[in-house]
Amino acid sequence: MKSRQIKAAETAKVRVALLRWYLANRRDLPWRKSRDPYSIWVSEIMLQQTRVAAVIDYYGRFMKQFPTVAALAAADEAQVLAAWSGLGYYRRARSLHTAAKMIVHELDGNVPTNSEALKQLPGVGRYTSAAIASIAYGEAIAVVDGNVERVLERLDGVARSGDSVWQRAQELLDTNSAGNWNQAMMELGATVCTPVAPLCDSCPVQHWCKLPGHDVRKAQPARKKRELIFGLARRGSRVFLVQRTKDESLMPLMWELPSVDASTHGNVLARLKHSITVSDYTILVVELAARSVPKGGKWISIEELARLPLTGLARKAFRKLDIL
Ligand code: ADE
Repeated sequence: MKSRQIKAAETAKVRVALLRWYLANRRDLPWRKSRDPYSIWVSEIMLQQTRVAAVIDYYGRFMKQFPTVAALAAADEAQVLAAWSGLGYYRRARSLHTAAKMIVHELDGNVPTNSEALKQLPGVGRYTSAAIASIAYGEAIAVVDGNVERVLERLDGVARSGDSVWQRAQELLDTNSAGNWNQAMMELGATVCTPVAPLCDSCPVQHWCKLPGHDVRKAQPARKKRELIFGLARRGSRVFLVQRTKDESLMPLMWELPSVDASTHGNVLARLKHSITVSDYTILVVELAARSVPKGGKWISIEELARLPLTGLARKAFRKLDIL
C-alpha cells in the first residue's frame, strides 16, 4: 500500500496544483463570501446529506431571517423549523437552534474558536467541527465527507475506511491553507471526481492519480416502494391539518395532512412521488369530508399555512394542489 502512495516531494506539487485549480474554478456560493463562523456553520449543517443546489435558496432565506447566532437563539423552534421546511433531516435544525441558545446563554454569545470546543455543540460532529474550524479560523484540520473519501480512493488507489481515511486526509492537508484545501478536496469530488463518469481530463491532479476513473460505486440498498394516502378537508378558506408530536423521531412538531385509511377514501385530488432515504412513496391526496376529520387537528387558514412548519411532503402537496 505504501509504495502506491504519493511520495513526500510530490505531495507539495499536488497541493499547489489542487489549490490553484480551486482558486480559479471554485463555484461562487453564498457562504464563500464570508469567514464568519456562524455563517459557515449554518452552511455546513445545511450541506449535510443535501446537495449544494438544494441548499442555496434556503441558506439565503435563513441568513436573512436569522443573521446572527443571537437572532437564531431568540427565535421560536417553530420559526426555525418553518425556515427549514422542505430541506429534510429536521433534527439538524433543532440541534442548530439548541446550540445557538447554548452559545448565547453559556458562552457569552461567542461561537467556539477551535474544533474541539465546536464539537461540544449539539449537531456538530467530527466533519462539521473540522469544516468550521478550518474555513473560519484556519485551523490545520482535515475534513472527510463522501467526496473526499472518493478523491482519496482514486488518487491513492486504496479504499480505506473509518479512521484511516481521516488520517490520510490529515497527511495530505495543506496546513497553511486548511480551509481552502478542505473545500478544494470537496469541490473536486463534487464537480470533477464524481462517482460516475469522472472528468479526469479536467482534473488538476490527474498526473498523480493511481486509479483515474476507477468505479467506486458502492452497492446501493434496494429501494422500497410504498403508498401513502392523505386526506384534504376544506371548510371555506381553511384546511384541516394535524401536528406531529414532539416525541416523533422524524419531523417532530411539524404539520401535515391527516392520513386516511386505504379502504375508505373518496376522490383522488392529486398523485405525487416523494423519495426519502431508501423509500419511494406514491402519495395520494384524497377528498375528506369536513365532518369526517380525525380528532386532534386544527382548521388552518391558507394565509397561515405559509408561516407554519409544514413537512416537506405537505408543502409539496399544497403546491401541487395550487393551495400554496
Ligand atoms: N460540501 C459541504 N461543505 C462544502 C464546502 N464548504 N465546499 C464544497 N463542498 C462542500
